[in-house]
Amino acid sequence: MNLAIIGTGYVGLTTGTCFAEVGHNVVCIDNNEVKVESLRQGKMPIYEPDLEEMIVTNVSAGRLTFSTDLAAAVRDCEIIFIAVPTPPHDDGSVDLSYIEGVTREIASILTPEMGYRVVVDKSTVPVSTGAKVYKVIERYSHRGVDVDVVSNPEFLREGSAVADLLHPDRIVIGSDSQRAMDLMKRVYQPFNAPIVEVDLASAELIKHAANSFLALKISYINAVSAVCEKAGADVELVAMGIGMDKRISRHFLNAGLGYGGSCFPKDVKGFINVAEQLGAPMEILKEVERVNEAQLERFVGRVRKKLWVLRNKRIAVWGIAFKQNTDDVRESVAVKLIKRLCDEGAIVTAYDPKAAETGAAALQGYSVTICDDMYDCVQDAEVLIVATEWKQFAMANLVKVRERMRLPIIFDGRNIIHGENAVHAGIEYHSIGRKNLYPNK
Ligand code: UGA
Repeated sequence: MNLAIIGTGYVGLTTGTCFAEVGHNVVCIDNNEVKVESLRQGKMPIYEPDLEEMIVTNVSAGRLTFSTDLAAAVRDCEIIFIAVPTPPHDDGSVDLSYIEGVTREIASILTPEMGYRVVVDKSTVPVSTGAKVYKVIERYSHRGVDVDVVSNPEFLREGSAVADLLHPDRIVIGSDSQRAMDLMKRVYQPFNAPIVEVDLASAELIKHAANSFLALKISYINAVSAVCEKAGADVELVAMGIGMDKRISRHFLNAGLGYGGSCFPKDVKGFINVAEQLGAPMEILKEVERVNEAQLERFVGRVRKKLWVLRNKRIAVWGIAFKQNTDDVRESVAVKLIKRLCDEGAIVTAYDPKAAETGAAALQGYSVTICDDMYDCVQDAEVLIVATEWKQFAMANLVKVRERMRLPIIFDGRNIIHGENAVHAGIEYHSIGRKNLYPNK
């Protein structure tokens, strides 16, 4: 099938590539000429495992192209996916101006002679957006165009986007038209995944409700971690014990510094906002946000208590990205942490396997030294903080770490280092929701 994807951000680029991978002809459209040109030359705008190889393969096979020509894409493709950003406004509501702008452009290109077209919303949007998209098309296109609007939210995680897209738990398709639904099912037939067929509004709600629920799970276990610290219990054991109940499941019960990224913070806010506007407030999500913020505060408080004052203390931070396997630092808790430490006058060094460049940009104006090597980063440090759950931090040579540090103290904000190993290496080990471990003197 001929598919157009508008927007080559995270969702657009990875979705378009995976559609090509399963055999569709895909054109990815972006209005940024420089980006389109560098994609044509095989240069990646983001780091995402396996994506580059897959793009190269599909471009050479002629199934994947990049272009700025929206009009040609609308003429050639029966299905047009919109995957443009939906950033938050200051009040938490969702900025839909990119969606509206692209919809108007599509509407102005459509003609009755082109035949049937399906406009699919892939971006995360508040409920009722699809209905508004349909209205805009009606308003700005020629009389007699034959169009349906579909909501098809995406559930990929950064860092494992390709695998998530190729092997999804489910595909959600929201449409009030059977014709559009049948066409969309053909798009997803090669994925061999369960398809949830729902109306437009329900599909839009599924996305906001899913992300908010996952954020709620994280805040729940983080709140439990605070109780564990007071009670001398172990949050990892509690998570295991409750997670073995299939109704709860162990996924997304990793206690840590809290959730970040371009999705959860924005989507929880967006859901709170739309629910309030609809007159059905989701107060529970305000508590989710509060716990998320308190988690970082509590952690910084513990580090401060350990060092007494942070001013002029050497603190090494492993991890700048908002999670492992990505260079994305948007709403990264690690970045927030580094800023807090700098504000309190600490001398901060930081290391991230992929997010050095994006991190440097996000930390502009803060006197943090970004290192090329994780062991150089801990040189003379009085505390090492693990802020992102990269595998290589879990596998670190802790003896080497101790030898390089001034005071051998680790604060593991992601509970990924084996505490006993740290203690054997002679390091004092603090983590989230577990007892502190001290080496034998
Ligand atoms: C999230 C959802 O997981 C995807 O299903 C969704 O498609 C995506 O948002 C989106 O809306 O586009 P993502 O933000 O890429 O994906 O990453 P996650 O793996 O969900 O992690 C989000 C944050 O939660 C990270 O900061 C991570 O460190 C944190 N987290 C995650 C925890 O603190 N504990 C956990 O148990 C899991």
